[in-house]
Amino acid sequence: MVKVAVLVSGGGTNLQALIDAQAAGKLGCGKISLVVSSNAKAYALTRAEQAGIPSAVIRRKDYACGEDYDVALAKKLKEEGIQLVVLAGFLSILGPKFIDAYRDRIINIHPSLIPSFCGDGFYGLKVHEAALAYGVKVTGATVHFVNEITDGGSIILQKAVYVEEGDTPETLQRRVMEQAEWELLPKATAMLCDKIQEAE
Ligand code: GAR
Repeated sequence: MVKVAVLVSGGGTNLQALIDAQAAGKLGCGKISLVVSSNAKAYALTRAEQAGIPSAVIRRKDYACGEDYDVALAKKLKEEGIQLVVLAGFLSILGPKFIDAYRDRIINIHPSLIPSFCGDGFYGLKVHEAALAYGVKVTGATVHFVNEITDGGSIILQKAVYVEEGDTPETLQRRVMEQAEWELLPKATAMLCDKIQEAE
């Protein structure tokens, strides 16, 4: 069994996809053991509670600096024996102290085909607004490793999704979630958990 922490900030539909995959036996040897939210009001916390998964709220604003936040977050995860960290709509920036503590063991889902529409300032609906403003006909989602460069770690999985006539940022966001994100994130999580299990 590989202990997985899912880090969230909002609605948590990607967390739900992971919970559903686990219930369906599709998370390999991964077990969602902890949900951490950077936002006390995130609906993702309700999803965790409904699934019986322990959760914690660790907010950037409760720490004097980013480094203190990184250290506190890493400490909590290490205490819980977490082996893989999955960012699922987590909006706080993680610094080198955290990344070093979980080098090559942090993955993120991003709602575009990296290297398009990614990097600082591209999150949530903003990504889809930018894709529509540019006029791309194909977008998608990417699961990648997290390193010190925002959305710059190596790519694990990607899936393309068509933009449709009349799309709004909201309709496009929903289609990218349904057709790509909710499939890719559990798949990548299962793949990595199985690799970690093999290596240990
Ligand atoms: C998802 O679309 C995710 O890809 C995106 O935030 C949304 C969170 O939704 N993440 C980013 O933009 C990261 N740069 P959720 O809380 O319903 O999973």
